[in-house]
Parts: sequence; C-alpha cells; structure tokens
Amino acid sequence: IKWWAIDCEKNLNMNKSRYFQVIYLKRSVVKDPALAVEGEKRIEWARRHMPVLERIKQEFEREKPLHGARIAACLHVTVETANLITTLVAGGAEVAVTGSNPLSTQDEVAAALAARGLHVYAFRGENEQEYYDCIKKALELQPNVSLDDGADTIAIIHKELPELAEQMLGGCEETTTGVLRLRAMADDKALLYPVIAVNDAETKMMFDNRYGTGQSTLHGIMQATNFLFAGKTVVVVGYGWCGRGFAMRARGLGANVIVVEVEPRKALEAAMDGYRVLPMHRAAPLGDLFVTLTGDINVIREEHFARMKDQAILANSGHFNVEIDIPALEKMAAERSEVQNNVAEYRLRDGRRLYLLAEGRLINLAAAYGHPPEVMDMSFANQALAVRYIVEHGRSLERKVYAVPVEIDRRVAELKLAAMGLETEKLTAEQEKYLHSWQMGT
Ligand code: NAI
Repeated sequence: IKWWAIDCEKNLNMNKSRYFQVIYLKRSVVKDPALAVEGEKRIEWARRHMPVLERIKQEFEREKPLHGARIAACLHVTVETANLITTLVAGGAEVAVTGSNPLSTQDEVAAALAARGLHVYAFRGENEQEYYDCIKKALELQPNVSLDDGADTIAIIHKELPELAEQMLGGCEETTTGVLRLRAMADDKALLYPVIAVNDAETKMMFDNRYGTGQSTLHGIMQATNFLFAGKTVVVVGYGWCGRGFAMRARGLGANVIVVEVEPRKALEAAMDGYRVLPMHRAAPLGDLFVTLTGDINVIREEHFARMKDQAILANSGHFNVEIDIPALEKMAAERSEVQNNVAEYRLRDGRRLYLLAEGRLINLAAAYGHPPEVMDMSFANQALAVRYIVEHGRSLERKVYAVPVEIDRRVAELKLAAMGLETEKLTAEQEKYLHSWQMGT
C-alpha cells in the first residue's frame, strides 16, 4: 500500500495536505476505503430500481459478449454507474473507472468499487490537475473501449495519447455536450475512432435529460439552500430536454417560470407551454433563482449580474462549469465567502449579494444524488448494449459519430415497459399494410 501511495502521489502531483486526505488502495485512488460498506448498500438499493439493466446483466453473465474488452469509463461515479460497471464486468470486460466531474463522485461508491478489486481513480473534490491525472491513470489499463460523459477521455487520447487510438474499437458518449464536441471533431476529420452517441437515443435523452435532470436539479438546489419554489421567479436558461424538464418541475412546485432561449422554435414552444419568454438582460432583474441548462458558455455574465436583485441565487445543471461567467463574478465581488456547504456568497461593491451554488458545477450531482436509478436504468441499458455493439462491430465502423441502433433503443423501451407492467397496443396485419402502402384508399 505504501508503494502505491508513493506511486500515486507522484502520478497525481498531490501536495502533502491533500495527500493525507486521500487513501490509496492497491489499484485505486479513493477517499476512504472504509466507506465501501455504505457504498454497497446504496448500490444494491439502486440495483433494485434498475430492472432493465439487471436483465441485460443476466444476459451478459450467460453470453460473456464483452470478453477481451478493456474499458476506460469516465462517468459520474454514482450508484447507478456502479450498476453499469457491474453489468460490464458480468459481460467479461475489464474496467477502469474515473469520475467525469470533480464534484460528482460519491466517495462511498468509489470505495465499494475499489473494494471489489476494480481500478478506481476518483474522489470528490479533485482539483483540475488531479481530475485529469485520474483519467490518465485509468488509461493505463490500455483500453480498447472508452465510455465518456463529456468526452474528456477521448479528448485526452486525441491530444496527448494518440497512439492509444489505434487499438480502440470505439467509444460511447453519455451527454449532449460530449456529443457536440465529438461531432465537431468528426466534422474536422479529427476523430480517430468510432463513437456511439448514447445521449441521442430516445430512451436516454427524452427521459434522463428531461425527467432525470428536471427532478434532480430541483433536489440539488433544495438540498443546498432549502429554497421554496412556490411564489418565486425562476429563470430557466435553455429550453432543450434538460431545460424543459426543470421548467416543468419548478412550475409544479408553484414557481413563476421565465424561459430564456436563443433558438426561435424552442422559444416558441416554451411560450406555448405557458412560460414567459424573455432575453437574459430582461430576465436578470426579475429572477430569484437562475438555472443554466444550455451546454453553452457565459450565458449569464457581467452585464446580467449587474442587474440582478440582492440575494439572487445562481445554479448550473449543464455539463461544464462555464455557463455562469464565474471569473466575471469574482472580478465584480468585493468579497467572497462560503455561507454554507455548496453556497458561496459574492458581495458586490454596491452591497448586493449573489449566491453561487456548487461552484457552478452540475448542481444535481454536486449537491444531490444525480438522476434517480429508474431513469439511469434506460440510459445505462443503452450504454451496456452500445458497448456490446462496439465490441462486436467496432472493427467495421468508420471514424464517425453513430446513433444508437434503433433496435437497441426500441428494445430498451420494450424492456422498460415490461418492467413497469405496461403493454403497448399491437398493429393488426391490416393496419401494418395500410401504414406502409400508398395504394390503399383514403
Ligand atoms: P439541448 O441541446 O436539448 O438544449 C440546450 C438548449 O440551450 C438549446 O435549446 C439551445 O438553443 C439553448 N441555448 C444555447 N445557448 C443558449 C444561450 N446563450 N441562452 C439561452 N439558451 C441557449 O441540450 P440538453 O440535452 O438539454 O443538455 C443541456 C446541457 O445539460 C448539456 O451541457 C448536457 O450535457 C447537460 N446535461 C446535464 C445533465 C445533468 O445531470 N445535469 C444530464 C443531461 C445533460
């Protein structure tokens, strides 16, 4: 253990004080191995609410379709992710796990996975250097499949370790922001191996992004602040899948919701869904709470902070901590203090106080548990089946971003419906024919 501690210290460039906070297991860097027991209990609770993934795990146990796969998984280290990892291992894969955000790792889950003998490099509160060093440690597994939530593993492979790309069968990407980055790479002909955009499967995006982010973002904000939504003005920036979900749930708790959108069709949809639609500079003086869900940069910035009310709260649920211009806020502030866990107060020179939650990082994962297992069940069923697809077909794929095959997407929906005890209507032979012909009468 001592040897590993020294090795990891060197590799992770940790200074002495941080070094004492992080405990090293034989093949892992986690905060506290003693948390493994609690982690296992929470993983088991989630497992019971992920019936589709469980079914795929049983299939993988029988068929071992991932034999020979070495997977670097850069995902939020949560109980749901632990169940995905269990499924991949059941399929015969070797897996190294690292976090996809410095504040989203659940230390008890990392400890439990490490105690099972997996390679785990993740702890809550990594600094930027440690975050990237952890990903590089995971890449020492010499993976042939990458799993990403935000494309950071793929970015490191492409920028710093391109020799690894040659052995890669393919990768999977979990979130909108990662898919955007990968599509930009493919357009530039810079992508070195095929990737499946798991995010874009309908059984992922329409449920995880909408209902998962909708509910868990509220949870994170309430957990950090005990904010009362009823009667407040909540400004939702971005009306994509995540924004729609959050706006719907905030309204459900009695908030007056204002939507800020740049895309005219989505702005129109928000208006017809019954929300007030305003540009950011007009929404700024009205909001009690601002939540960004855009995947874009600096959507709330200096000119907006300048117009906000005293004690307005700012939170982000988009992938990176760039949606709120934190450097501008720092510059405008006379003083910054932590008023409570996950709440930083910025006292501006004119005396107004603005509160930034969870350092502008994904509020639902930094201050709460992230998405409930019932939605991650579908997202990770897609992930597991997409990994199988890559292992079986990766060699024949081009260096492009692929959609999840529609058969996988449909199968996940069918399994979920069955698990919920729901049945779909079946087309009759006559209807089947009618829907596919142009000759039958009107
Ligand atoms: P989306 O593409 O469906 O929606 C984003 C919306 O933001 C679009 O309608 C776009 O027009 C709008 N937008 C862009 N720039 C804007 C600006 N300056 N002002 C106002 N609106 C703007 O994307 P989706 O799936 O809703 O994801 C949004 C972000 O949330 C991404 O970063 C994604 O990776 C992340 N995400 C976070 C999750 C979480 O657990 N918190 C879960 C899933 C996704």
